[in-house]
Amino acid sequence: MSSNPNIVYLNGQYLPVEKATISVMDRGFLFGDGVYEVIPVFGNKMLRLGEHLSRLQNSLNRISCVNPHDDKEWEAIFSDLLEKNSGEDRAIYLQISRGVYSKRDLATNADFSPTIFSMVLQVAQPDFEVLSAGISVITVEDFRWNACDIKSTSLIANVMLKQQAADANVEDAVLIKNGIVTEGTASNVFIVKDDVLLTPPTSRQLLPGITRDLVIEIAKNNAILIEEREIREAELYSADEIWMTSSTREVAPVINLNGEAVGSGVAGNMWKRVMDLYQEYKQQLRRGT
Ligand code: PDD
Repeated sequence: MSSNPNIVYLNGQYLPVEKATISVMDRGFLFGDGVYEVIPVFGNKMLRLGEHLSRLQNSLNRISCVNPHDDKEWEAIFSDLLEKNSGEDRAIYLQISRGVYSKRDLATNADFSPTIFSMVLQVAQPDFEVLSAGISVITVEDFRWNACDIKSTSLIANVMLKQQAADANVEDAVLIKNGIVTEGTASNVFIVKDDVLLTPPTSRQLLPGITRDLVIEIAKNNAILIEEREIREAELYSADEIWMTSSTREVAPVINLNGEAVGSGVAGNMWKRVMDLYQEYKQQLRRGT
């Protein structure tokens, strides 16, 4: 393993990040015409790689872009990239844009090959003390489009929504569309009410999170009641617990919503239970058991 932490993959080559450049005519740059994935890595093992690759396939299908590699080839690329960079617990970032065309034109042309870029993200492992201190969030209007199931690199709306949270001096925002909870700016949302875990069903209004699915699976395997159903904004205010889940945040407890304490105002018991189970799952992955 090299000690250089900045070797990236670009169109078949492994290069130092400073040497990896793309054309200004790349459609990812001009239009945000691309999709991406973030895959957590624990002890050099990729978490739920198959699920991430099938979501990637879904994103590519939705934008009518051919997948440039099969699952085995992706796995080989990521393994080589991990090998060329140092670290144990981190994440793989993969971005595929529709490629470089000779002129700026919205029309697509399958004769052009996509631009494939991958790098290793150094993700700070959430410290239990810090995580359990919880985060504060606000609710904001979800003004995004009707295709949020695509993990698209066109993230301007998410950037604007995250900015609204920053302007309010909180960590994040819960997005509300027509009075219904969709997701976070880069995470899925769960609430706990009377010992039942609730999360919105997958739809075109939210990204089907791999962490979300893992939390649902953990709940089901441990006799925790879980319902996938619409959550009304008003239910947030009477929730015992609210969580936000993602590959990089894992399961973050929300302790304050719009300036009001959530539940008892500290990370809840259900969160502690699921968080322990989640950490156990990670440990098993690291050990390869
Ligand atoms: N984002 N919803 C949105 C809008 C997201 O961007 C993400 C993840 C999720 C959670 O998905 P997962 O559990 O598969 O990470 C939900 C990644 C981490 C990012 O953009 O960095």
